[in-house]
Amino acid sequence: MKHSTLTHLPDSFGRPLRDLRISVTDRCNFRCPYCMPAEIFGENYSFLPRPEILTFEETVRLARLFATLGVRKIRITGGEPLLRASLPSLIAALAGIGGIEDMTLTTNGYLLAAKAAALKESGLDRVTVSLDSLDSDIFQLMSGGRFDPQMVLDAIDVAAAVGLSPIKINCVVQRGLNDDGIVDLARQFRGSGHVIRFIEFMDVGTLNDWDMKHVVGADEILERINERFPLEELPPNCPGEVAKRYRYLDGSGEIGVISSVSKPFCGYCTRARLSTEGSLVNCLFASSGTDLKTPMLAGAGDEELLAIIKAAWSRRSDRYSEERFDRRELLDDEAAGQRIQMYQIGG
Ligand code: GTP
Ligand code: 5AD
Ligand code: SF4
Ligand code: SF4
Repeated sequence: MKHSTLTHLPDSFGRPLRDLRISVTDRCNFRCPYCMPAEIFGENYSFLPRPEILTFEETVRLARLFATLGVRKIRITGGEPLLRASLPSLIAALAGIGGIEDMTLTTNGYLLAAKAAALKESGLDRVTVSLDSLDSDIFQLMSGGRFDPQMVLDAIDVAAAVGLSPIKINCVVQRGLNDDGIVDLARQFRGSGHVIRFIEFMDVGTLNDWDMKHVVGADEILERINERFPLEELPPNCPGEVAKRYRYLDGSGEIGVISSVSKPFCGYCTRARLSTEGSLVNCLFASSGTDLKTPMLAGAGDEELLAIIKAAWSRRSDRYSEERFDRRELLDDEAAGQRIQMYQIGG
């Protein structure tokens, strides 16, 4: 449903609230070393117990409130969101909320082939699928398992066949690990109608041993692809778009580059995150959020919840990626240790 007049709830820098990224589980069937290293997330790791996770009813209630404050786009994330049973029923309820114009989901693709049709039927518009390498060995290293990239490629075909498109493919680039495969990935999706996006490796959470020497900057990524398949820049689809867009000069489609490290995009960051346990998180790099589940359990009415959300967004002053290098120097180990992890908010 299109709305001509948009609610405008500015944060402390005047940035409106437009997108809600909802993490529906902290579990994942992959163990990507940059997110859930297998040494830490072993068989005995305790993920959140069921009572601490937002129920679908609570999630939908909150999403409805967020929509009244200006949210137009919802992205379902995890962990791995497709591990959550009955997800299509949640999506159907979210897609039915007045004002929501775009319903999407980010997945590692492992369960996507089996679930694509039901997801489409529930009202999901499109999916983004993570794929870091076409090389089996490197893919396994980067996903922490014995999975095969072919399974992700097959899932992308199934998702496209049921109409969950345009499909976006996310590749996190790490120097010395998968950067030699960038051009192969670009070639794989040229002419497919899907959009591959290359993401600069970020220092999200505290577990990925991040170092600038592992980051391949957007300019270098583009240069490597442009040498083989010439590109030109495209204008953004919407203000504040995370990925910068480029098209192949021969008309074989487009790619994206997400340069959160070399060219941060906090200036128009309209994204709020709802963590698995129901906290409103104002930035991917925040160390804490605003608990919404406890007041809901205590019987808070909609007006009370709206007041809590409005207050949290209005005082938002996060712009971590723009401050990264100053902040990292100042952070002591304790403060750094408190950062929210990627798998708790799904990026
Ligand atoms: P669409 O382009 O609309 O499909 O959405 P998207 O790009 O937001 O989706 P996706 O979840 O695939 O995000 C792509 C990458 O950008 C992920 O690595 C995210 O962690 C990263 N990203 C998304 N939003 C932000 C943000 O607000 N800040 C930073 N630093 N990175 C982000
Ligand atoms: N840096 C950049 N992207 C990351 N992702 C996970 N961890 C990182 C990181 N440290 C990506 C995932 C997924 C998306 C939501 O975020 O691969 O595609
Ligand atoms: Fe799972 Fe995604 Fe984290 Fe990999 S990056 S462990 S697929 S949640
Ligand atoms: Fe938004 Fe924080 Fe990412 Fe900046 S670092 S774009 S404020 S989520």
